[in-house]
Amino acid sequence: MGCHNTKKSVFSSMKMGLVISILCFLSLCLLNGWQTRFQPINPSSFSNRSRSRNVTILLWYWPFHRSFSLRGDMCWDLYRIPRCRLVDQRSMFPSADVVVFHNRELVQGQKLPFDLPRPQGQRWAWMSLEAPVYNGNLGKYANIFNMTITYRRDSDITIPYGQLLPKAAEEHLVDDVPLNKSSLVCWVVSNYRSQHKRSQVYKELSAVVPVKVYGRWTKTPLPSRALLPTISGCYFYLAFENSLSKDYITEKLWRNAYQGGAVPVVMGAPLGDYKAVLPPNSFIHVDEFASVKDLGEYLQQLAEDKKRYSEYFTWKQQWKVKLYTDWRERLCKICTQYDSLPQQKVYSDLEAWVNNT
Ligand SMILES: *[C@@H]1O[C@H](CO)[C@@H](O)[C@H](O)[C@H]1NC(C)=O
Ligand SMILES: *[C@@H]1O[C@H](CO)[C@@H](O)[C@H](O)[C@H]1NC(C)=O
Ligand SMILES: *[C@@H]1O[C@H](CO)[C@@H](O)[C@H](O)[C@H]1NC(C)=O
Ligand SMILES: *[C@@H]1O[C@H](CO)[C@@H](O)[C@H](O)[C@H]1NC(C)=O
Repeated sequence: MGCHNTKKSVFSSMKMGLVISILCFLSLCLLNGWQTRFQPINPSSFSNRSRSRNVTILLWYWPFHRSFSLRGDMCWDLYRIPRCRLVDQRSMFPSADVVVFHNRELVQGQKLPFDLPRPQGQRWAWMSLEAPVYNGNLGKYANIFNMTITYRRDSDITIPYGQLLPKAAEEHLVDDVPLNKSSLVCWVVSNYRSQHKRSQVYKELSAVVPVKVYGRWTKTPLPSRALLPTISGCYFYLAFENSLSKDYITEKLWRNAYQGGAVPVVMGAPLGDYKAVLPPNSFIHVDEFASVKDLGEYLQQLAEDKKRYSEYFTWKQQWKVKLYTDWRERLCKICTQYDSLPQQKVYSDLEAWVNNT
């Protein structure tokens, strides 16, 4: 790269030189992997756009057959997202800018509207919150979709299960480090499969330290109102995903561990994916240890050291957890990024894209 030997004769102005070096610096930073540092999305960075017309998002059918009201200027009224019209009437097809298809129902036999003439510039979006193995065979969807809407950071629209938002100044004071703990490690599991890697890790870990298990598997199910209070009585919570896939970080982390007030011990996506979206010293990844035994010993020592343990909660002074649960919010989000979508794009091999974990 010629960043350093820019000829003075060409760029005589100091200003220009400064701009160039900033650009070089930024591009070097990107090349050097800054993208793996914690960089939460700033929601306000999308708020102003020159577009004056509405973007129309047509939801071809509701995910899981559950519909919600779309009355009024819903994206604005609920989420302060302007110029965004979310509709579910198929008659709107000719004027829709984006038509969204949720994968689950495609798997169940929903058909794509190939019989309708597709308007110039209309984008078809493929949406799924599932890990790759649960998306079915996507081989037949080559060269159809223009956009992906998933929890992955490299989707066109990223809809994570949760994210951290900066706290407002007046919120900083609230800093509740929950220290009234009665269990070292807790795990809630309904769907126990011995072949899951997480079950393997659980078995090895429970040989080293006590692990309190709740859920259907051990016939100790927790009613939902008891979930977070129970987790808050644990030093550590095993936020183990059922699938080890790129960026697949679910409410087990955002809700159960972070909101429950236990330090998450995570397993699922690679360490770098967690580092990219979570503050340092807010979680413990299984892969950070040479063995599960080392992990267990670390947890034991950490729980005995009140000061070091409480440092795992300092992130709460700056950040608050936002969960995404409403499909309408996820769909309105399309509008915030609509203007920066590529002019022309098609997923020539959706199956390969999805399975690129
Ligand atoms: C948003 O953009 C408009 C027009 O481009 C501009 O007049 C207005 O000041 C901007 N508002 C903010 C908050 O940046
Ligand atoms: C945009 O859509 C909203 C919600 O449907 C509507 O209230 C508003 O009048 C529309 N604005 C324009 C410029 O079409
Ligand atoms: C601490 O936990 C114990 C049992 O887990 C509970 O009985 C007690 O009320 C808790 N105390 C506070 C202050 O939360
Ligand atoms: C969307 O994909 C189709 C291929 O199915 C393509 O013909 C069309 O040009 C694409 N549109 C955009 C806006 O990328």
